[in-house]
Amino acid sequence: MRAIVCRELGDPETLEMVERDSPPCGPGQVRIRVWAAGVNFVDALFVQGQYQIRPPLPFVPGSEVAGEIIEVGSEVNDWSTGERVVASIGLGGFADEVLVAGSVPVRLPERISYGQAATMGQSYSTALFAMTHRTQVIEGEWIVVAGAAGGLGLAFIDVGRMLGTRVIAAASGPDRLHLCIERGAHEIVDYTTENLKVRIREITGGGADVAADPVGGPHADALLRSLGEAGRLLVLGFASGEIPRLPANQVLLRNRTVVGVDWGAWAMAHPEAQRELFAEVLAAVDDRRLQPVEPTTYPLEEAGTALRDLLERQIVGKACLTT
Ligand SMILES: NC(=O)c1ccc[n+]([C@@H]2O[C@H](COP(=O)([O-])OP(=O)(O)OC[C@H]3O[C@@H](n4cnc5c(N)ncnc54)[C@H](OP(=O)(O)O)[C@@H]3O)[C@@H](O)[C@H]2O)c1
Repeated sequence: MRAIVCRELGDPETLEMVERDSPPCGPGQVRIRVWAAGVNFVDALFVQGQYQIRPPLPFVPGSEVAGEIIEVGSEVNDWSTGERVVASIGLGGFADEVLVAGSVPVRLPERISYGQAATMGQSYSTALFAMTHRTQVIEGEWIVVAGAAGGLGLAFIDVGRMLGTRVIAAASGPDRLHLCIERGAHEIVDYTTENLKVRIREITGGGADVAADPVGGPHADALLRSLGEAGRLLVLGFASGEIPRLPANQVLLRNRTVVGVDWGAWAMAHPEAQRELFAEVLAAVDDRRLQPVEPTTYPLEEAGTALRDLLERQIVGKACLTT
């Protein structure tokens, strides 16, 4: 089998492709032939040693995969070879095979491509979790999402529409905003040329109900100030590399709330609830209430380039490695 190995923490370019024997499939495991592995921001953070968890070296990055079951352990009864699956695995996905516990994969409806499946688990689960568990969005509410043409951003647009909210996509530059419109955003703001707070207030006629921020940096302050009465700021991540400090007076004003969203921790603590949430996502994709974007593809051996492109904002939408 082929795998991408991280031997030292640092730049994605240091990743190496290795060929090695496939390890044996344990009695409680299944082997998945990986056809697509999602490229996520968190994978880059692992390789750079900037994630809150540091796995021992060497390790194979890659947190979500889609593919086909090719071997079933002797104690696993609910899988057969040939079944199409998607699996969220934390690490190990940048390879053409992975071994996982039989309880980990989720069946993939025919309509969903391997590329879509490998790039929507984290982002769509997070968006649905944020909008239904960390706050409860209401039909007709105005939701603004920063980094809207990124993985989480596009998921917020899609899930926000499904839940009946009106979505304002905030992103940098016309190409990204064009994609957001194509994916169903009701309104757009280019935060490289427009005043984010002023534009959101204009569009909403007073203030947004919910602002989702996976980017951090200067946008967080503007998003908080753009909220109307009882508005909620969802803190999701810091893709800009800058963790913002928020003025408490702006939280007090208009009875606003700042809400932390840590889907990964919740999913680990509540695996059954996560399975249900993800099943809801897949069912919605299957009946076309959700329409995840087809990702840009890179061959497995170009994992380093894919992560570099992600870090340098060269990827519009999602990306995956194909084997
Ligand atoms: N809280 C959770 O549960 C959770 C779950 C999944 C992911 N996350 C986190 O959310 C963040 C975004 O994830 P994602 O999958 O949406 O990432 P992504 O696909 O790379 O998108 C991030 C967006 O951030 C913007 N950005 C601004 N400054 C940037 C910079 N210096 N480098 C890269 N991007 C920059 C870019 O949009 P513009 O160019 O338009 O500004 C980009 O499209 C990450 O930090 C990730 O770890 C959190």
